[in-house]
Amino acid sequence: MRTDHGLQVIRIALIGAGRIGTMHAGHIARRVPAAELAAVVDLRLDVAESVAAKYDAKATAELDDVLKDPEIEAVAITSFADVHSELVVRAAEAGKAVFCEKPASLDLVEMDRAILATRKAGVPFQVGFNRRFAADFAAAHAAVVRGEIGTPQQLRSVTRDPGWPGGLSNSVNIKPWTIFRETLIHDFDTLLWLNPGAEPIEVYTRADALVAPQYKDSGLIDTASVMLSFDNGAIATAEASFSALYGYDVRGEVFGSKGMVTAGRHASSPMLQYGEQGISQQTLRSDEEMFGDAYVAEVSQFADAIRTGSTPPVTGEDARRALRVALAAMKSHEEHRPVQLTEIG
Ligand SMILES: NC(=O)c1ccc[n+]([C@@H]2O[C@H](COP(=O)([O-])OP(=O)(O)OC[C@H]3O[C@@H](n4cnc5c(N)ncnc54)[C@H](O)[C@@H]3O)[C@@H](O)[C@H]2O)c1
Repeated sequence: MRTDHGLQVIRIALIGAGRIGTMHAGHIARRVPAAELAAVVDLRLDVAESVAAKYDAKATAELDDVLKDPEIEAVAITSFADVHSELVVRAAEAGKAVFCEKPASLDLVEMDRAILATRKAGVPFQVGFNRRFAADFAAAHAAVVRGEIGTPQQLRSVTRDPGWPGGLSNSVNIKPWTIFRETLIHDFDTLLWLNPGAEPIEVYTRADALVAPQYKDSGLIDTASVMLSFDNGAIATAEASFSALYGYDVRGEVFGSKGMVTAGRHASSPMLQYGEQGISQQTLRSDEEMFGDAYVAEVSQFADAIRTGSTPPVTGEDARRALRVALAAMKSHEEHRPVQLTEIG
């Protein structure tokens, strides 16, 4: 099938219709002109059905239904993180192009299996590091690549999830290591990407449960700062918190020998309100609000990569590099010492 502009339409099946899957479903169906939401798969059929019904897509709880469908060219994996790598392998073996939300895997052995499976099958494999597609982060990266910041000396990446005055209401359900493998993984990718050509050599972590200390004994870590050293001399920090009362706070910064670039914004609109207490401004409250266009752009570029046969803009190898840093950061936290990346594999 072709769009009015003659573009080949990529038929995509969504696997995992939870919070972020529901968002991607809407983008694939409505905001990426040359993609179509062909099917929605979820372990819970009722969940798959309710998302599929909005876009006239097929719903199923059986992955094989979409893997065996020759009209479906690609999958978008948005299920729980611990099954991502297995789903990547199954989709690749069925010859489907793969978009997978981060983290593509929770360990390096499974990550390598997923990369190998996509390579063997010759299918595109893109991972959901959406920050790279945000206009400000992309412009910062381009300035670094053009050499305008000189040699990077200090880098910073921050992720603070929006919080509530009552603290983390669902802390008991947060799986151990989530802050490293699902949150800071974005920051590690950002730092590696903003320091092109450099390799991380050492990682040191300080982390705690400061937002919900009552869950610390059950393994919750809700606050973490990680310091990274690179082989080009640059020193970087990645910071994450599960609760910022003022909203969703994501920022990046590269400071170098010729200047600095910063990316990230807080305000949801330029409107300022002036009153007795002073001046106030509304802030962004969610990832979907801050990165809406970036989420659309990543899927759009995934479809382009399939159509043109080019390498996707974020690869399985990129996901492996970020995962390696996350694993080093976890080891550093456990062993209370700096960890060399060579210890990780
Ligand atoms: N890039 C981003 O900014 C971003 C933001 C949020 C979440 N994520 C990632 O997306 C993934 C999903 O997060 P979420 O918050 O939407 O989770 P969620 O718990 O809301 O939804 C996951 C869904 O996947 C389904 N599922 C699980 N295993 C499945 C399987 N084997 N087959 C089919 N369906 C399956 C579940 O039934 C559930 O409906 C996580 O890896 C998370 O880290 C990325």
